[in-house]
Amino acid sequence: MGIFSKMKKLGHEQLVFCQDRGAGLKAIIGIHNTTLGPALGGCRMLPYATEDEALMDVLLLSRGMTYKSGASGDSFGGGKVVIVGDPKTDKSEKMFRALGRYVESLGGRFVTGTDVGTVPEDFIISNAETDWVVALPEEYGGSGDSSILTAFGTYRGIQACARHKWGSTDLKGKSIAVQGLGKVGFNLIKHLIHAGADVTGADVSENAVERVRSEFTIDVVGPDEIYDVKCDVFSPNALGAVIDSNTIDRVSCSIVAGAANNQLAVPSFARVLADRGILYAPDYVINAGGLIQVADELYGFNYDRAHKKVAGIYDTLLRIFARAESDGITTAEAADLLVEERLAKIVGLKSVYLPDEDHME
Ligand code: NAI
Repeated sequence: MGIFSKMKKLGHEQLVFCQDRGAGLKAIIGIHNTTLGPALGGCRMLPYATEDEALMDVLLLSRGMTYKSGASGDSFGGGKVVIVGDPKTDKSEKMFRALGRYVESLGGRFVTGTDVGTVPEDFIISNAETDWVVALPEEYGGSGDSSILTAFGTYRGIQACARHKWGSTDLKGKSIAVQGLGKVGFNLIKHLIHAGADVTGADVSENAVERVRSEFTIDVVGPDEIYDVKCDVFSPNALGAVIDSNTIDRVSCSIVAGAANNQLAVPSFARVLADRGILYAPDYVINAGGLIQVADELYGFNYDRAHKKVAGIYDTLLRIFARAESDGITTAEAADLLVEERLAKIVGLKSVYLPDEDHME
């Protein structure tokens, strides 16, 4: 399939191929949809084996960002940039300045920050060429570690699941299996323990396990055993695709709700979970805390405002669960619909003439 056909199929507005040979930069900026506002999405740097692999990644990731931004309630669209290269060996100052210039050339249509393979320091460099970067270190005006609000949003999401499933947000005595005790997992456990939940955790890293154990009383099981823990909530906070054909029959819980991206190996597993009576909190809705935080930097970061918006993940999920129930669809389908309907409404607004828009060209 050609590039335009792929863009058409997935609904993209624009792709920008960036090559600066002197800087060794080979990047693709994907702008999926700007109906709600500037396209927002991180910068992923990977040694993609083929150009097609890089292209598909930017197309799918930028499309995913439209849904994530749309569900967060903020006025941003979906975008992403991928750099073809090895983050360990191929980075240079010139590369990230060159990227900054390409981002600047889009005049605010696209705003970027860190993702897999990039760190805030890379964007201090890009920031010399463009203001359209977020998630900078705090001393550069950034909002700092996003895992704290991501964890808070995930906690609010688990409360929404509890409310929908059991009629109360009270998590006292509920058993919660937390997979992944990294930045988000650690902060999530803080909320869960405070709420009186019984937590079982697992991580492949001994250091991560020890860090949690030094602060909280939790049970710990092996990384593969976590799927077999009988619990009220299974909370994936490590990797993507953890609900796969091997694990989907093993999880023994009423709710799947965690921060990991792309938790379902295939979208149809949302139906399998629903048929088993398991309530699934769509990942891009429940884990939007970090996105809401960095997006808030564009207004001049205000923690209280960001915190309030992240707390709203609770209401968004309750709306999604109600819609899924009334329409007989999965919660994943209901989340997609919520965004698609919001986009359809706002597209209509664009017919109102504004003198500084280029209607007359
Ligand atoms: P992190 O890298 O700090 O923590 C991930 C933890 O998972 C690490 O401790 C790692 O050892 C562990 N892990 C890896 N493989 C595992 C396995 N097979 N079983 C058990 N544990 C395993 O990452 P962070 O920031 O805590 O993010 C967690 C998840 O949440 C990721 O999927 C990330 O994409 C997602 N997320 C994070 C956001 C943020 O603001 N940090 C925002 C939105 C999503």
